[in-house]
Amino acid sequence: MDNSFLGFLHSLLRYAVLLALLWAFVVNLRGWLTGRPILTGDRMVTILAMVFCHVQLVLGGILYAMHYTAIDHMEEPHRRFFKYEHIGTMIIAIALITVGRMLSKKANAEYLKQRTIVIFYGIGLLLILWAVPWPFTEVGHALGWL
Ligand code: HEM
Repeated sequence: MDNSFLGFLHSLLRYAVLLALLWAFVVNLRGWLTGRPILTGDRMVTILAMVFCHVQLVLGGILYAMHYTAIDHMEEPHRRFFKYEHIGTMIIAIALITVGRMLSKKANAEYLKQRTIVIFYGIGLLLILWAVPWPFTEVGHALGWL
């Protein structure tokens, strides 16, 4: 749909977002379940996942500003997907991830920090997985994997 460099970056960055979120989810879940603090390197992944989400939010916002006329002229269900579902779900997911990281930072027990990340990042990850236009969905079949 979009051949610009920004569009390519936005498409590519989905994998960094998903991997970082999954990694942060797994290390925090392991720490929570085993009662062990997570290592500083692993904690960095929690931050990195949020930063990737914020970059994706900015890129997505620019793409939307650049393409909203084109999106308005798309056939349904593509129009509805890119105008409302994709953007709305992603903004909610990124807000949850940001709030989760803030609450985790404020929590005063290690298990509470980890549990907060598990819950907020877990829900955010599911929402993002759902709202990506994957090639096996109706809205994404013309887009491919990258
Ligand atoms: C983690 C969050 C996000 C992920 C993983 C993601 C992923 C994607 C992917 C894979 C595409 C298809 C790209 C292609 O193959 O051409 C896409 C398109 C698009 N995304 Fe996102 N997105 C995210 C957040 C957002 C946000 C927050 C916005 C808007 C504020 C946004 C706006 C758009 C728009 C407008 C398109 C169509 C762009 C075009 O014409 O190239 N995205 N997104």
